[in-house]
Amino acid sequence: MKKGKWGLIIFGLVIFIVGVTFPVWYGAGTSAPAPVLDMDTPVIKSMPNKKCVEDTAFIRAHHMKLLDAWRDEAVRDGHREYTAKDGRRFEKSLTGTCLQCHSNKSAFCDRCHNYVGAKPSCFSCHIVPEEVKK
Ligand code: HEC
Ligand code: HEC
Ligand code: HEC
Repeated sequence: MKKGKWGLIIFGLVIFIVGVTFPVWYGAGTSAPAPVLDMDTPVIKSMPNKKCVEDTAFIRAHHMKLLDAWRDEAVRDGHREYTAKDGRRFEKSLTGTCLQCHSNKSAFCDRCHNYVGAKPSCFSCHIVPEEVKK
């Protein structure tokens, strides 16, 4: 084999290895660290058992759908009371329920949404209560 051909093969191998490992090293050092969610609000602090409306895994994955359902049920059907799986009752309200416990929207909801690139448009109409200082 001529020298030039070896060069070509090695060049090809390098391209191949770079390509195959691309997902591993691309973004190393550039990806944003996961957001730190602030749970430290006066209401949550005062809760004996720190529980969301539903369990954490469920609320994390499904709060958008829950809020959608709450809106439809509250506004269209006038059903404003939600009974959680464990029997606790809540008013179906974004400002009146979620943002009472999570009274730190910017350090909780927004941090996560900014991280995942979600932009809920709710707050052009719904009031964000003034964030309570700790
Ligand atoms: C264009 C204005 C507007 C936008 C945008 C909007 N809403 Fe509403 N929403 C309303 C109005 C008006 C009511 C009725 C208030 C009532 O009857 O108490 C309401 C009621 C609700 C309710 C039940 C009552 C309460 O106090 O919360 C929920 C839950 C709700 N909206 C969730 C959402 C969510 C989640 C979003 C974003 C994905 C959203 N809304 C975006 C105007 C809006
Ligand atoms: C009674 C107080 C309370 C109410 C009301 C409440 N939350 Fe929570 N929420 C909590 C607590 C406490 C946690 C942390 C639970 C844990 O650490 O396991 C939590 C956790 C969460 C999480 C998961 C965060 C994570 O670690 O990934 C999300 C998302 C969330 N809440 C959204 C909401 C939304 C949306 C509403 C309204 C539908 C709401 N919460 C209503 C107290 C509340
Ligand atoms: C642990 C991360 C996390 C936290 C904390 C969190 N969210 Fe979300 N939220 C998401 C994700 C992920 C989505 C879905 C984005 C998508 O599907 O594009 C979402 C979507 C939503 C939507 C639907 C947006 C739309 O345009 O349809 C609403 C409404 C919402 N979140 C409200 C809240 C509120 C209110 C809080 C604070 C009480 C909160 N979220 C806290 C991760 C979070």
